[in-house]
Amino acid sequence: MKNVILSGMRPTGKLHIGHLSILDNWVKLQSDYECYYAVTDWHALTTAFEETTELNDNVWNMVLDWLAVGLDPEKSAIFIQSQVKEHAELHLLFSMITPLSWLERVPTYKSQVYQLGLQGKDISTYGFLGYPLLMSADILLYRANAVPVGEDQLPHLELCREIARRFNYMYKKDVFPEPKALLSKISLLPGIDGRKMSKSYHNEITIDASREEIASKVRQMVTDPQRIRKTDPGNPDVCVVYTYQKIYNPEEVEDIENKCKTGAIGCVACKKKLTEKLNSALEPIREKRAYFANKPKEVREIIDNGRMKATSSAKQTMELVKEAIGINYRGV
Ligand code: TRP
Ligand code: SF4
Repeated sequence: MKNVILSGMRPTGKLHIGHLSILDNWVKLQSDYECYYAVTDWHALTTAFEETTELNDNVWNMVLDWLAVGLDPEKSAIFIQSQVKEHAELHLLFSMITPLSWLERVPTYKSQVYQLGLQGKDISTYGFLGYPLLMSADILLYRANAVPVGEDQLPHLELCREIARRFNYMYKKDVFPEPKALLSKISLLPGIDGRKMSKSYHNEITIDASREEIASKVRQMVTDPQRIRKTDPGNPDVCVVYTYQKIYNPEEVEDIENKCKTGAIGCVACKKKLTEKLNSALEPIREKRAYFANKPKEVREIIDNGRMKATSSAKQTMELVKEAIGINYRGV
């Protein structure tokens, strides 16, 4: 029996190339694990309950992005959280055994309430407090052994492990394994302005960007501000283009560094090189995405199959859960 992986993402907008390191990890895991990948639309609702008009597009785009980077529906269950009702059922049952204090002390909770509060959002809701518990249900519903996530999700995963332990202890059955985190390397790519790449800063490069968009984004990238003429010696260490060259153009990066420092290459030429490299790296993703975008029926089928595969595993877990609690009511 293969070990089980579950991971998910909130559909909050198009993915950008900073997400690629996490997704590459998801793709690799497909060959050794039984993988479940959920578009967690209910999680999106915990903060975006007033702005739901984009949710349909966001979910659809996320599935296209995932398929484009190489998630393989033959290997993995690619599905939408809200289409597998057992997530809600398990979340409810977990809510019975979860002390409020466990949720209130999750560090991301307090800081998020504060941050979103500053944006004028009131998220003092039941659903938002339960965010990490719903996430625990996502994971434990498939009795996942491991969860590939970014570092920011570690406190949530810790809660998940505590819930698994508490459930097993309370009902004296080993229903749940304690899933461990598989940390993906954090993306080293800054946004085009040098800050963290983020949709809210409008500095991101989406993974479906066209050739023209890539060229334009690279043109806007911040370079060494001290460099006025192209013969001025530059400092690559303060240049966003250089950070990208390290990742997308490793063969030439040393040469570029030397030429930049001696004023032997100008920023326009340097950016041109990067544009080409970025474009050829993203070309296969772009093509694959276009393929699926033109085949909505096929994509709907993939989501349907994902739902069925996920549901089948979820139902088995729920049988064990109800058995353990004693609420399967098979009669006397
Ligand atoms: N909270 C995760 C995030 O914001 C998304 C998520 C929801 C998730 N359920 C999950 C991640 C289960 C891993 C496992 O990125
Ligand atoms: Fe940056 Fe390249 Fe210009 Fe040097 S030459 S400052 S690395 S864009």
